[in-house]
Amino acid sequence: MKVCVVGGAGYIGSETVYELIRNGHEVVVIDNLSTGKKEMVHKSAKFYLGDITKEEDLKHIFEQECMIKHFDVVMHFAAKLIVPESVEKPLEYYHNNVEGLRILLSVMNDFNIKNIVFSSTAAVYGEPNKDICEESDLTKPINPYGETKLVCENMIKWVCQRYDMHYCIFRYFNVAGADETLEIGLDKSNLTHIVPITVETALGLREKMTVFGNDYNTKDGTCIRDYIHVQDLAYAHVLGAQYIFENEENLLLNLGSNNGYTVLEIIKEVEKYYKVNYEIGKRRAGDPAKIVASNKKACEKLGWKPKRTLSDIIKSDLDYRMKLNKK
Ligand code: UFG
Repeated sequence: MKVCVVGGAGYIGSETVYELIRNGHEVVVIDNLSTGKKEMVHKSAKFYLGDITKEEDLKHIFEQECMIKHFDVVMHFAAKLIVPESVEKPLEYYHNNVEGLRILLSVMNDFNIKNIVFSSTAAVYGEPNKDICEESDLTKPINPYGETKLVCENMIKWVCQRYDMHYCIFRYFNVAGADETLEIGLDKSNLTHIVPITVETALGLREKMTVFGNDYNTKDGTCIRDYIHVQDLAYAHVLGAQYIFENEENLLLNLGSNNGYTVLEIIKEVEKYYKVNYEIGKRRAGDPAKIVASNKKACEKLGWKPKRTLSDIIKSDLDYRMKLNKK
Protein backbone atom coordinates (compact mmCIF):
# COMPACT_ATOMS: atom_id res chain seq x y z
CA MET A 1 0.00 0.00 0.00
CA LYS A 2 1.02 3.61 -0.45
CA VAL A 3 0.19 5.26 2.87
CA CYS A 4 0.10 8.95 3.77
CA VAL A 5 0.82 9.44 7.47
CA VAL A 6 -0.34 12.82 8.70
CA GLY A 7 1.47 13.55 11.95
CA GLY A 8 4.14 10.97 11.15
CA ALA A 9 6.88 12.83 13.03
CA GLY A 10 5.13 12.51 16.39
CA TYR A 11 5.35 9.77 18.98
CA ILE A 12 2.68 7.35 17.72
CA GLY A 13 2.81 8.46 14.08
CA SER A 14 6.57 7.88 13.79
CA GLU A 15 6.28 4.44 15.38
CA THR A 16 3.52 3.54 12.92
CA VAL A 17 5.74 4.69 10.04
CA TYR A 18 8.44 2.29 11.30
CA GLU A 19 5.95 -0.58 11.45
CA LEU A 20 4.56 0.23 7.98
CA ILE A 21 8.06 0.21 6.52
CA ARG A 22 8.94 -3.01 8.35
CA ASN A 23 5.91 -4.53 6.67
CA GLY A 24 6.90 -3.42 3.18
CA HIS A 25 4.64 -0.39 2.62
CA GLU A 26 5.49 2.90 0.89
CA VAL A 27 5.13 5.86 3.26
CA VAL A 28 4.72 9.62 2.81
CA VAL A 29 4.75 11.71 5.99
CA ILE A 30 3.12 15.12 6.45
CA ASP A 31 3.85 16.94 9.71
CA ASN A 32 3.96 20.58 10.81
CA LEU A 33 6.69 19.73 13.36
CA SER A 34 4.82 21.59 16.10
CA THR A 35 5.48 18.73 18.47
CA GLY A 36 6.99 16.14 16.13
CA LYS A 37 10.64 15.99 15.12
CA LYS A 38 12.01 15.48 11.62
CA GLU A 39 14.63 13.05 12.95
CA MET A 40 11.84 10.75 14.18
CA VAL A 41 10.77 10.12 10.59
CA HIS A 42 12.12 6.86 9.17
CA LYS A 43 14.75 7.44 6.49
CA SER A 44 12.79 5.41 3.94
CA ALA A 45 9.70 7.63 4.25
CA LYS A 46 9.24 10.76 2.16
CA PHE A 47 8.72 13.85 4.32
CA TYR A 48 6.66 17.01 3.66
CA LEU A 49 6.34 19.93 6.04
CA GLY A 50 2.62 20.76 6.10
CA ASP A 51 -0.26 21.68 8.38
CA ILE A 52 -3.65 19.96 8.21
CA THR A 53 -5.42 23.12 9.24
CA LYS A 54 -4.14 24.74 6.01
CA GLU A 55 -6.00 23.36 3.02
CA GLU A 56 -3.46 24.74 0.55
CA ASP A 57 -0.64 22.79 2.25
CA LEU A 58 -2.51 19.51 1.89
CA LYS A 59 -3.68 20.18 -1.66
CA HIS A 60 -0.16 21.01 -2.77
CA ILE A 61 1.28 17.80 -1.27
CA PHE A 62 -1.55 15.57 -2.52
CA GLU A 63 -1.19 17.06 -6.03
CA GLN A 64 2.50 16.24 -6.12
CA GLU A 65 2.15 12.74 -4.67
CA CYS A 66 -1.02 11.60 -6.39
CA MET A 67 0.38 12.50 -9.80
CA ILE A 68 2.76 9.55 -9.39
CA LYS A 69 0.50 7.07 -7.56
CA HIS A 70 -2.45 7.92 -5.37
CA PHE A 71 -2.60 7.09 -1.67
CA ASP A 72 -4.36 3.85 -0.79
CA VAL A 73 -4.80 4.92 2.82
CA VAL A 74 -4.41 8.10 4.86
CA MET A 75 -3.53 7.71 8.55
CA HIS A 76 -4.28 10.71 10.72
CA PHE A 77 -2.25 11.30 13.90
CA ALA A 78 -1.95 15.08 13.78
CA ALA A 79 -3.96 16.00 16.84
CA LYS A 80 -3.62 17.65 20.20
CA LEU A 81 -3.92 15.02 22.92
CA ILE A 82 -3.25 16.25 26.42
CA VAL A 83 -6.31 16.01 28.68
CA PRO A 84 -5.50 18.84 31.16
CA GLU A 85 -4.34 21.13 28.33
CA SER A 86 -7.68 20.58 26.58
CA VAL A 87 -9.50 21.74 29.70
CA GLU A 88 -7.36 24.92 29.66
CA LYS A 89 -7.51 25.59 25.91
CA PRO A 90 -10.69 24.04 24.48
CA LEU A 91 -10.81 26.30 21.41
CA GLU A 92 -7.35 25.21 20.30
CA TYR A 93 -8.50 21.61 20.57
CA TYR A 94 -11.61 22.23 18.46
CA HIS A 95 -9.57 24.09 15.87
CA ASN A 96 -6.76 21.61 15.52
CA ASN A 97 -8.64 18.35 15.99
CA VAL A 98 -12.04 19.06 14.45
CA GLU A 99 -11.25 21.67 11.80
CA GLY A 100 -8.01 19.84 10.88
CA LEU A 101 -9.93 16.63 10.22
CA ARG A 102 -12.63 18.44 8.21
CA ILE A 103 -9.98 19.85 5.90
CA LEU A 104 -8.17 16.53 5.59
CA LEU A 105 -11.39 14.67 4.69
CA SER A 106 -12.33 17.33 2.19
CA VAL A 107 -8.94 17.11 0.44
CA MET A 108 -9.08 13.28 0.52
CA ASN A 109 -12.44 13.48 -1.18
CA ASP A 110 -11.15 15.93 -3.81
CA PHE A 111 -8.39 13.44 -4.66
CA ASN A 112 -10.69 10.42 -4.49
CA ILE A 113 -8.78 8.74 -1.65
CA LYS A 114 -11.00 6.13 -0.10
CA ASN A 115 -9.52 4.93 3.20
CA ILE A 116 -8.78 6.68 6.48
CA VAL A 117 -7.25 5.29 9.68
CA PHE A 118 -8.02 7.60 12.56
CA SER A 119 -6.59 7.93 16.08
CA SER A 120 -9.40 8.28 18.57
CA THR A 121 -9.22 7.77 22.28
CA ALA A 122 -10.58 6.00 25.32
CA ALA A 123 -11.48 9.50 26.51
CA VAL A 124 -14.66 9.28 24.38
CA TYR A 125 -16.11 6.90 27.01
CA GLY A 126 -15.86 9.56 29.72
CA GLU A 127 -16.41 8.07 33.16
CA PRO A 128 -17.42 4.48 32.35
CA ASN A 129 -19.57 2.70 34.90
CA LYS A 130 -18.33 -0.70 33.73
CA ASP A 131 -15.17 -2.61 34.53
CA ILE A 132 -14.17 -2.89 30.93
CA CYS A 133 -15.16 -0.71 27.94
CA GLU A 134 -16.56 -2.17 24.76
CA GLU A 135 -16.85 -0.23 21.53
CA SER A 136 -20.66 -0.28 21.68
CA ASP A 137 -20.70 1.35 25.15
CA LEU A 138 -22.11 4.79 25.78
CA THR A 139 -19.77 7.63 24.80
CA LYS A 140 -19.93 10.59 27.16
CA PRO A 141 -16.62 12.49 27.30
CA ILE A 142 -15.77 14.45 30.44
CA ASN A 143 -13.09 16.66 28.90
CA PRO A 144 -12.73 18.72 25.69
CA TYR A 145 -10.08 16.37 24.30
CA GLY A 146 -12.45 13.38 24.40
CA GLU A 147 -15.29 15.54 23.09
CA THR A 148 -13.32 16.71 20.04
CA LYS A 149 -12.38 13.11 19.22
CA LEU A 150 -16.01 12.02 19.45
CA VAL A 151 -17.04 14.82 17.09
CA CYS A 152 -14.28 13.61 14.73
CA GLU A 153 -15.46 9.99 14.88
CA ASN A 154 -18.96 11.07 13.91
CA MET A 155 -17.68 13.36 11.15
CA ILE A 156 -15.74 10.44 9.67
CA LYS A 157 -18.77 8.15 9.80
CA TRP A 158 -21.04 10.61 7.99
CA VAL A 159 -18.44 11.64 5.41
CA CYS A 160 -17.46 8.02 4.65
CA GLN A 161 -21.10 7.08 4.23
CA ARG A 162 -21.74 9.97 1.85
CA TYR A 163 -18.63 9.62 -0.29
CA ASP A 164 -18.27 5.84 -0.30
CA MET A 165 -15.07 5.89 1.76
CA HIS A 166 -13.95 3.49 4.51
CA TYR A 167 -12.58 4.07 7.96
CA CYS A 168 -10.73 2.32 10.72
CA ILE A 169 -11.13 4.26 13.95
CA PHE A 170 -8.92 3.19 16.84
CA ARG A 171 -9.72 4.20 20.41
CA TYR A 172 -6.37 4.25 22.18
CA PHE A 173 -5.98 3.57 25.85
CA ASN A 174 -2.73 4.64 27.58
CA VAL A 175 0.13 4.36 25.14
CA ALA A 176 3.70 4.15 26.41
CA GLY A 177 7.11 2.62 25.68
CA ALA A 178 9.57 3.09 22.83
CA ASP A 179 10.51 1.33 19.62
CA GLU A 180 12.62 -1.83 20.13
CA THR A 181 15.54 -0.18 18.31
CA LEU A 182 15.38 2.71 20.84
CA GLU A 183 15.73 5.05 17.84
CA ILE A 184 12.33 6.65 18.47
CA GLY A 185 10.01 7.15 21.43
CA LEU A 186 8.32 9.89 23.41
CA ASP A 187 11.00 12.55 23.68
CA LYS A 188 11.73 14.63 26.75
CA SER A 189 9.88 17.85 25.92
CA ASN A 190 6.47 18.56 27.47
CA LEU A 191 6.06 15.24 29.21
CA THR A 192 2.71 14.96 30.98
CA HIS A 193 2.09 11.21 30.94
CA ILE A 194 2.53 9.01 33.96
CA VAL A 195 5.00 6.43 32.62
CA PRO A 196 7.73 8.81 31.39
CA ILE A 197 7.26 11.11 34.38
CA THR A 198 7.72 8.21 36.80
CA VAL A 199 10.74 6.94 34.88
CA GLU A 200 12.32 10.42 34.78
CA THR A 201 11.80 10.72 38.52
CA ALA A 202 13.40 7.32 39.06
CA LEU A 203 16.38 8.38 36.96
CA GLY A 204 16.82 11.53 39.06
CA LEU A 205 15.87 13.83 36.17
CA ARG A 206 13.04 15.17 38.33
CA GLU A 207 13.34 15.75 42.02
CA LYS A 208 9.83 14.56 42.80
CA MET A 209 6.55 13.62 41.13
CA THR A 210 2.95 14.06 42.26
CA VAL A 211 0.26 11.39 42.27
CA PHE A 212 -2.92 13.23 41.32
CA GLY A 213 -5.40 12.10 43.94
CA ASN A 214 -5.62 8.99 46.14
CA ASP A 215 -9.28 9.31 47.03
CA TYR A 216 -10.79 7.64 43.95
CA ASN A 217 -13.01 4.62 44.34
CA THR A 218 -10.32 2.13 43.27
CA LYS A 219 -8.30 -0.52 45.15
CA ASP A 220 -5.59 1.89 46.36
CA GLY A 221 -7.43 5.16 45.73
CA THR A 222 -5.40 6.14 42.63
CA CYS A 223 -6.68 6.11 39.04
CA ILE A 224 -6.68 2.93 36.99
CA ARG A 225 -5.57 2.96 33.35
CA ASP A 226 -4.95 0.37 30.65
CA TYR A 227 -1.38 0.59 29.29
CA ILE A 228 -0.43 -0.51 25.79
CA HIS A 229 3.03 -0.61 24.22
CA VAL A 230 3.39 1.84 21.34
CA GLN A 231 4.82 -0.82 19.01
CA ASP A 232 1.87 -3.18 19.58
CA LEU A 233 -0.45 -0.24 18.95
CA ALA A 234 1.40 0.78 15.78
CA TYR A 235 1.30 -2.74 14.37
CA ALA A 236 -2.49 -2.77 14.82
CA HIS A 237 -2.59 0.25 12.47
CA VAL A 238 -0.82 -1.70 9.75
CA LEU A 239 -3.37 -4.50 10.10
CA GLY A 240 -6.32 -2.08 10.29
CA ALA A 241 -5.24 -0.25 7.14
CA GLN A 242 -4.79 -3.50 5.25
CA TYR A 243 -8.17 -4.71 6.47
CA ILE A 244 -10.22 -1.75 5.27
CA PHE A 245 -8.23 -1.49 2.03
CA GLU A 246 -8.83 -5.16 1.15
CA ASN A 247 -12.32 -5.67 2.57
CA GLU A 248 -13.88 -2.23 1.94
CA GLU A 249 -15.42 -2.39 5.41
CA ASN A 250 -15.42 -0.01 8.36
CA LEU A 251 -13.89 -0.75 11.76
CA LEU A 252 -14.19 0.86 15.19
CA LEU A 253 -11.78 -0.79 17.62
CA ASN A 254 -10.38 -0.29 21.10
CA LEU A 255 -6.61 -0.69 21.39
CA GLY A 256 -5.77 -1.69 24.92
CA SER A 257 -4.70 -4.72 26.90
CA ASN A 258 -7.81 -5.75 28.93
CA ASN A 259 -5.77 -5.02 32.12
CA GLY A 260 -5.88 -2.02 34.43
CA TYR A 261 -3.16 -0.71 36.74
CA THR A 262 -3.30 2.02 39.34
CA VAL A 263 -0.86 4.94 39.41
CA LEU A 264 0.78 3.42 42.50
CA GLU A 265 1.23 0.13 40.65
CA ILE A 266 3.07 1.97 37.88
CA ILE A 267 5.36 3.51 40.49
CA LYS A 268 5.91 0.09 42.05
CA GLU A 269 6.86 -1.40 38.69
CA VAL A 270 9.40 1.39 38.08
CA GLU A 271 10.73 0.90 41.62
CA LYS A 272 11.87 -2.59 40.59
CA TYR A 273 14.75 -0.63 39.04
CA TYR A 274 15.14 2.63 40.99
CA LYS A 275 13.44 4.40 43.87
CA VAL A 276 10.77 6.97 42.92
CA ASN A 277 10.35 10.09 45.04
CA TYR A 278 6.63 10.97 45.01
CA GLU A 279 4.01 12.84 46.96
CA ILE A 280 0.23 12.59 46.96
CA GLY A 281 -1.44 15.70 45.56
CA LYS A 282 -4.90 16.88 44.57
CA ARG A 283 -7.00 15.35 41.82
CA ARG A 284 -6.29 16.61 38.28
CA ALA A 285 -9.19 18.10 36.27
CA GLY A 286 -10.78 15.78 33.71
CA ASP A 287 -9.49 12.46 35.09
CA PRO A 288 -11.88 9.48 35.19
CA ALA A 289 -11.26 7.01 38.05
CA LYS A 290 -10.92 3.92 35.92
CA ILE A 291 -10.74 3.15 32.25
CA VAL A 292 -9.83 -0.27 30.85
CA ALA A 293 -10.35 -1.63 27.33
CA SER A 294 -11.93 -4.75 26.07
CA ASN A 295 -9.68 -5.55 23.11
CA LYS A 296 -11.73 -8.57 22.07
CA LYS A 297 -13.03 -6.95 18.89
CA ALA A 298 -9.57 -5.83 17.69
CA CYS A 299 -8.19 -9.31 18.35
CA GLU A 300 -11.03 -10.97 16.45
CA LYS A 301 -11.12 -8.60 13.49
CA LEU A 302 -7.40 -8.11 12.97
CA GLY A 303 -5.91 -11.30 14.38
CA TRP A 304 -3.91 -8.95 16.61
CA LYS A 305 -2.83 -9.32 20.20
CA PRO A 306 -0.64 -7.03 22.31
CA LYS A 307 2.65 -8.89 22.76
CA ARG A 308 4.18 -6.68 25.43
CA THR A 309 3.25 -6.54 29.14
CA LEU A 310 3.36 -3.64 31.61
CA SER A 311 6.87 -4.74 32.66
CA ASP A 312 7.98 -4.60 29.00
CA ILE A 313 6.47 -1.13 28.65
CA ILE A 314 8.26 0.22 31.72
CA LYS A 315 11.58 -1.38 30.75
CA SER A 316 11.28 -0.02 27.22
CA ASP A 317 10.60 3.54 28.43
CA LEU A 318 13.43 3.27 30.95
CA ASP A 319 15.94 2.06 28.34
CA TYR A 320 14.87 4.80 25.94
CA ARG A 321 15.16 7.56 28.53
CA MET A 322 18.58 6.30 29.66
CA LYS A 323 19.69 6.43 26.03
CA LEU A 324 18.24 9.94 25.52
CA ASN A 325 20.00 11.26 28.58
CA LYS A 326 23.36 9.79 27.66
CA LYS A 327 23.38 11.89 24.49
N1 UFG B 1 -0.81 11.07 36.76
C1 UFG B 1 -0.25 11.35 38.00
N2 UFG B 1 0.87 12.12 38.02
C2 UFG B 1 1.46 12.62 36.89
C3 UFG B 1 0.87 12.32 35.63
C4 UFG B 1 -0.28 11.54 35.61
O1 UFG B 1 -0.75 10.94 39.03
O2 UFG B 1 2.46 13.34 37.00
C5 UFG B 1 -2.03 10.23 36.72
C6 UFG B 1 -3.21 10.94 36.10
O3 UFG B 1 -3.86 11.75 37.02
C7 UFG B 1 -4.02 9.75 35.61
C8 UFG B 1 -2.97 8.70 35.23
O4 UFG B 1 -1.77 9.11 35.90
O5 UFG B 1 -4.77 9.25 36.66
C9 UFG B 1 -2.71 8.66 33.76
O6 UFG B 1 -2.50 9.97 33.29
P1 UFG B 1 -1.79 10.31 31.92
O7 UFG B 1 -1.64 11.80 31.86
O8 UFG B 1 -0.59 9.46 31.75
O9 UFG B 1 -2.84 9.81 30.84
P2 UFG B 1 -4.42 10.08 30.72
O10 UFG B 1 -5.10 8.86 31.26
O11 UFG B 1 -4.82 11.38 31.25
O12 UFG B 1 -4.60 10.19 29.16
C10 UFG B 1 -4.13 9.21 28.29
C11 UFG B 1 -3.98 9.81 26.92
C12 UFG B 1 -5.30 10.16 26.37
C13 UFG B 1 -6.25 8.98 26.45
C14 UFG B 1 -6.32 8.44 27.84
C15 UFG B 1 -7.18 7.22 27.87
O13 UFG B 1 -3.17 10.97 26.97
O14 UFG B 1 -5.11 10.50 25.04
O15 UFG B 1 -5.03 8.14 28.26
O16 UFG B 1 -7.19 6.59 29.10
F1 UFG B 1 -7.47 9.36 26.12
